[in-house]
Amino acid sequence: MIESFLIPVIAGAVLAVAKGKKMDDRKKIEKVFEKCLQKDDQEPVEFIRQRKYETYTEFVYRLPFYLSFSQIEQKQEHFENALNKRIEFSFDGMLRVKVFENELPEMFELTKEIIDRCKGWTIPTGIDQQGDIHFHDFDRIMHMIVAGTTQYGKTVFLKMLITVLAANHPEHVRFTLIDLKGGLAFQRFANLQQVVSVASDAQEALMALKHIKTDIEKRLKDFKAAGFENIRDSKIKERHFIVVDEAAELSPAGYKGQDKALRQECENIMSYIARVAGGVGYRLIYATQYPTSDVLPRQIKQNCDSKVCFRLQTAKASEVVLNEKGAEKLPFIKGRCIYLTDKPVILQAPYISNEFIDDILKPYKMEKRVSAIEHHSNEPPAPNGYTIEFK
Ligand SMILES: Nc1ncnc2c1ncn2[C@@H]1O[C@H](COP(=O)(O)OP(=O)(O)OP(=O)(O)O)[C@@H](O)[C@H]1O
Ligand SMILES: [Mg+2]
Repeated sequence: MIESFLIPVIAGAVLAVAKGKKMDDRKKIEKVFEKCLQKDDQEPVEFIRQRKYETYTEFVYRLPFYLSFSQIEQKQEHFENALNKRIEFSFDGMLRVKVFENELPEMFELTKEIIDRCKGWTIPTGIDQQGDIHFHDFDRIMHMIVAGTTQYGKTVFLKMLITVLAANHPEHVRFTLIDLKGGLAFQRFANLQQVVSVASDAQEALMALKHIKTDIEKRLKDFKAAGFENIRDSKIKERHFIVVDEAAELSPAGYKGQDKALRQECENIMSYIARVAGGVGYRLIYATQYPTSDVLPRQIKQNCDSKVCFRLQTAKASEVVLNEKGAEKLPFIKGRCIYLTDKPVILQAPYISNEFIDDILKPYKMEKRVSAIEHHSNEPPAPNGYTIEFK
C-alpha cells in the first residue's frame, strides 16, 4: 500500500529534477537507484555502458554487493513511471536494463484523412513505431500475399484494401472477390458497382478465374497489337484486383478426383495471373491462414513481391511467407504485422469497422447482387455499369 503510494512521489521527484534540465534515460535510471535503492553511505551502482538497438536501448550496470537483482526487479514500476517507458531487467553478472522506445499502438483506425492521403494506387499498410504511416503502391509492386494465423487481421486488412481502392478509384477499379469461407466476409461488397463477381466456393471461384483468364488473354493480344509493353504505356486507367481470402481452400493438396482437378485449375490460373497479368493491369491479393509450401505455390510466392504477415504459429510458416523467421515472434496483438517489400518493417495495420466501410461505400452501392454464376451467364463480362475500352 505504502509502496504504491510512493511510486508517483518518486516519479514526481525525478520529473521535478528533469524539469529544469532535460534528463536523459540514463540519468533517470540512476536517480531511481539513488532515491529507491541505494544507501547514502554505501557505494552506488556503477555504470558500465549503454547501447542502442532498433527498438530499445540497453544500459549495463555493475551492482554493489548489498543490492540483489530481485530487489531491483521489485522496483520495476518505479523505473517505468520515472521513464514513462517499458523496461525489462536481466542479470548475468551485470545488471542489464532494456528501455524500450515508444511502442506501437494496439489500435490504428483508418480515417477519411488517411484514405485521402493515398495517392495513385496506394493503400495504407500500417503505422510504425515512429508514428509514420506506411503505404503500399500497387503500381510499383503489383501482387501481395497476406498471411497470418486465425483471428489476427487478414480479412479486416482485405476489407480495408477494397474500401480504400473503391473510395479513391470508383471509376477505375474492378474487383473479383473470392471468399472461400462461404462468402460471408465480402458480402457487404457484393452490391458494389466496382465488384465484378463474388465467388464463395471453389466452383464459383473457378468460373470467376476462367473469366479473368479470358480477359487477360484478350488484353495481352490487344497490347501486343498496339505495341504497349505495360499498362502505363496505354491509356487504360483501370486496375482489376483479384482478392482471394482463405486461398488454402483452393489448394489441390489433400483432394482427390474432380475436386482436386478443379482446385488445380484455380491454382494454375492464379499462378498465371501472378506471372503474366501484372503488366496488363491485374493484381492478385492472395490471403492464407496456412502458409505451407503446398498452399503457397512457388510461382505465386515468387511473383508476389509484397507480403503482409500477421502472427504465425511457427518459424517454419514464417520462412515460407517471408523467407525468414520472425512472424512467430510477433506479439499476441490483433493487427500487428510484418510488411515486407525491400525490407521488413513491423507495423500496426489499419483497423476498419463494418460501419465505416458502409459509410464510405454508400455512394457506390447498387440494388442487385452480383455473383460469379450470374456474371458467367451474362457474356461478355462487363463490370456493372461500365466496360473497359481501349482508347
Ligand atoms: N488491424 C486491426 N487492428 C485491431 N484489431 C483488429 C485488426 N484487424 C483485425 N482485428 C480484430 O481481430 C478480429 C479478427 O480479424 P480478422 O477477421 O481479420 O481475422 P482473420 O485473420 O481473417 O481470421 P480468420 O483466419 O479466422 O478468418 C477482428 O474482428 C477485429 O476485432
Ligand atoms: Mg478471415
